[in-house]
Amino acid sequence: MRNVSLGKTGLSVSAIGLGCMGMSDFYGENADWGRRSETEAESLATIRQALSEGLNFIDTADVYGNGHNEQLVGRALREHMEAGGRREDAVVCTKFGNVRGDDGSWQGVNGSPDYVRMACERSLRSLGLDHIDLYYQHRVDPATPIEETVGAMAQLVQQGKVRFIGLSEAGVDTLRRACTVHPVAALQTEYSLWTRDPEQEHLRVCAELGITFVAYSPLGRGFLTGTIRDDDTLAFNDSRRLHPRFSSEAIEHNLQLVEAIESIAGAHGCTPAQCALAWLLAQSGNGGPDLRPTVLPIPGTKRRERLGENIGALSVSLSVEELERLSQAAPPGWAMGTRYPERSMQALNR
Ligand SMILES: NC(=O)c1ccc[n+]([C@@H]2O[C@H](COP(=O)([O-])OP(=O)(O)OC[C@H]3O[C@@H](n4cnc5c(N)ncnc54)[C@H](OP(=O)(O)O)[C@@H]3O)[C@@H](O)[C@H]2O)c1
Repeated sequence: MRNVSLGKTGLSVSAIGLGCMGMSDFYGENADWGRRSETEAESLATIRQALSEGLNFIDTADVYGNGHNEQLVGRALREHMEAGGRREDAVVCTKFGNVRGDDGSWQGVNGSPDYVRMACERSLRSLGLDHIDLYYQHRVDPATPIEETVGAMAQLVQQGKVRFIGLSEAGVDTLRRACTVHPVAALQTEYSLWTRDPEQEHLRVCAELGITFVAYSPLGRGFLTGTIRDDDTLAFNDSRRLHPRFSSEAIEHNLQLVEAIESIAGAHGCTPAQCALAWLLAQSGNGGPDLRPTVLPIPGTKRRERLGENIGALSVSLSVEELERLSQAAPPGWAMGTRYPERSMQALNR
């Protein structure tokens, strides 16, 4: 497994991670919480396979299935240890700050110090662990100064409950302010061939501050793999149906990018998913004079076969010309439809 350093922490993490969200929530059969047991065995096996192959960067959050996803990650890690693995084989990354009711309804964002402490205890219980390796604020709370939220996160580090901290979807000013309180190891934000927004300033600022850029939804929530050709492909309650990018009109437009990816992947001899991930991996730098940070994609899958395929992207080396053709296929702003429904767009800190 190829490894990279997480921010300035010195911790070695795999150059590609595993997103676990879809194992419990939002997509496909798991949009229906009542059906989660149907996919659980394969999800657990997927996490265990990741760990046994040295893919240690495991991403979850307290809101994914309201604790179900953290419990799943904890269980997979215990099973890994029962089979002779070690706790340190996993870098467990989780998040707090999005608040949901017991029925899954969205109730806003909370970054107050009391909430941070409560959420951390709850996540530790769900995971069944005594510490979290990387603890992110999921969304910045406009009602709480970032210094107060990060101050509470820093206390968790002092108490040994958290090793490193990160932010998700934070604007660059917020990121700078956060770093004055405690080192930020990672910024997790959406980045892929159809979401190029971080190229404006986030990548440069991460490189400058020595922060790893963790790219979420690197496969465009599955769209860039070519497996979603129309909105009928999605279950009636699949959350992507609420995303403007997945309206039937937007899908028709955005498929032009998928066709470009498929054509380059076909000529190169890799799959579209590998091609999309290889493009992202190629955006990674060393924070050197080119001011590009480490870009660490965390593709989500609940299937071992796709995990193997996605790890295979690390061996795909696209030529400069192929990379350029991909970049040109969908320049920043090209994709039709916003990447979230309006209410969620407003929760992004820009
Ligand atoms: N910080 C945030 O606000 C935030 C927001 C969203 C996501 N995330 C994190 O980022 C992770 C990844 O993002 P994501 O899950 O939204 O999107 P993604 O990784 O872009 O795509 C995941 C989707 O693609 C499918 N897929 C995966 N590999 C595939 C392959 N090789 N071929 C065909 N289809 C494939 C998956 O289906 P199967 O599972 O059926 O394989 C799933 O439906 C999440 O799991 C979560 O941990 C964070």
